[in-house]
Amino acid sequence: MFDQQYPSDLPTGSFHDAAPIGLFDSGLGGLTVLRELYRQAPQESVIYFGDTARLPYGTKSPAEILQYVREILTWMTEQGVKMVVMACNTSSALALETVRSEFNIPILGLILPGARAAVQQGKRIGVIATPATVASDAYQHAIHEVDASADVWQVGCPEFVPLIEDNRIEDPYTDAIAQRYLQPLIDQKIDTLVYGCTHYPHLAPVLRRILPPSVKLVDPAVHVVAAAAQELDLLGLSNVRSPKPTRFCVSGCPDTFNRLATRWLGYTPIAEQIQLPQVHPPVWLETVEP
Ligand code: DGL
Repeated sequence: MFDQQYPSDLPTGSFHDAAPIGLFDSGLGGLTVLRELYRQAPQESVIYFGDTARLPYGTKSPAEILQYVREILTWMTEQGVKMVVMACNTSSALALETVRSEFNIPILGLILPGARAAVQQGKRIGVIATPATVASDAYQHAIHEVDASADVWQVGCPEFVPLIEDNRIEDPYTDAIAQRYLQPLIDQKIDTLVYGCTHYPHLAPVLRRILPPSVKLVDPAVHVVAAAAQELDLLGLSNVRSPKPTRFCVSGCPDTFNRLATRWLGYTPIAEQIQLPQVHPPVWLETVEP
């Protein structure tokens, strides 16, 4: 159901190995995926898009999220990307399956790589994610597809993304909220915790302080980037030249993004504000009146 494989008849000839990979998220969360991309595939050029004018995604409806993702993918294909990595669990959970049949480009999501990694680590798996991702049950389904005997508990954490985007990681309030979200999982004696939102690895020191030391943390970013690198290799699309500097684009205020992203990137990006194209659902998805 959440398979990441691509149709083997994908017209790879139309892509160029030097083309960038597109990464997107609602905001700063995708930087945890970008960080992995820099580590595992430093030869690749990247276009990063943060939909900062519309974050958080995790409290939006499935229809809204699908619409946002369609707009972003339309824009990214216009930029000539050779692959898109959804650096957003909410988009992966709610839109990946649909858009993969609408766009003629490899698109990877986080759920299946995260689920596969989780079952390799443990049997009592906690997932912390946005309310939209939890409501979709995408992680639960994906984990059970890989290992039907694993126990899964999910907790929606609506306050985490706003706290991270407001740069309140060191705030004692964040500790208190994290304690509240994690306690039910600790009570269930989980052995593994999946970061089901790309923002949450930014909270690693806070979560580590609260969790028993034996609990293993799974960051799906590590595994989706490994899958992306492998896929590019298989498609003959790995970049063999020097990468271009990462291009950062946002829908909201570039200065705010630049300031907040500096902490996670270790350098100050120069983001451009862009306007996403207006996209209507494909005609076959529109309701036809009798
Ligand atoms: N970082 C994204 C995710 O992985 C989106 C979080 C949000 O905007 O609520 O789900």
